[in-house]
Amino acid sequence: MTQPHHRTVRSFVQRAGRTTAAQKRALRNLIPRFGIPFRECALDLDLEFGRRAPVVLDIGFGDGSALLTLAANHPANDYLGIEVHDPGIGHLLLQLERAGLDNVRIIPHDAVEVVKHMLSPRRVDAVNLFFPDPWPKKRHNKRRIVQPGFVHDIARVLKPKGTFHIATDWADYAEHVALVMDDCEQFEALSPQQASSEPFFDRPTTKFERRGIALGHTVTDLHFRRTN
Ligand SMILES: C[S@@+](CC[C@H](N)C(=O)[O-])C[C@H]1O[C@@H](n2cnc3c(N)ncnc32)[C@H](O)[C@@H]1O
Repeated sequence: MTQPHHRTVRSFVQRAGRTTAAQKRALRNLIPRFGIPFRECALDLDLEFGRRAPVVLDIGFGDGSALLTLAANHPANDYLGIEVHDPGIGHLLLQLERAGLDNVRIIPHDAVEVVKHMLSPRRVDAVNLFFPDPWPKKRHNKRRIVQPGFVHDIARVLKPKGTFHIATDWADYAEHVALVMDDCEQFEALSPQQASSEPFFDRPTTKFERRGIALGHTVTDLHFRRTN
């Protein structure tokens, strides 16, 4: 009997974007230093970072400029970046080497699978999801990374009172996030005033934010806290 063909709906397509020679070299030579390969078993983050410190996830870091700024500004925190786009990963690797930072590690893989398989429960202090791919067409909405299952997995890996910061320049995506998060009882939404007293909601300007603003979009920051 023919088996039904199941295709995973992913939140990204592998774009052809040009990887420069320097980025290719970085992907070869610096991944052993900053990269962690995907595997279906829980990571020992203390071992990976060589210390125990607060851990912040950056999901889909793009060119990594916001991640780099955060890591440089908060050396007491460790940052775990997850991205699938080689030019962006190569770009961040070069910047990390140049800046001499050692509090960043990169997993070059689908964040949905990384969160599900590689992170232990209650291990992460904060999660950043800055300007996720908007998938604005109705028929593509299912590709948006913010889905009930994913949000549930994020709740699992966050410490109690850990925070989740989502920023988007698509009004329709902001509404989608609010609906999905409202249905997830493991999170409470924070007002801007409540958010201002939390330690991990610092957000440097990102490349995609600048692009959105140039297109006349309005940026929305949504702040959530893991309930106990
Ligand atoms: C619109 S860009 C935003 C990049 C960056 N956060 C910024 O604000 O400049 C979205 C990024 O998320 C990445 N991405 C989308 N789905 C992903 C997934 N499931 N796992 C890892 N990265 C993903 C894409 O490759 C892309 O670089």
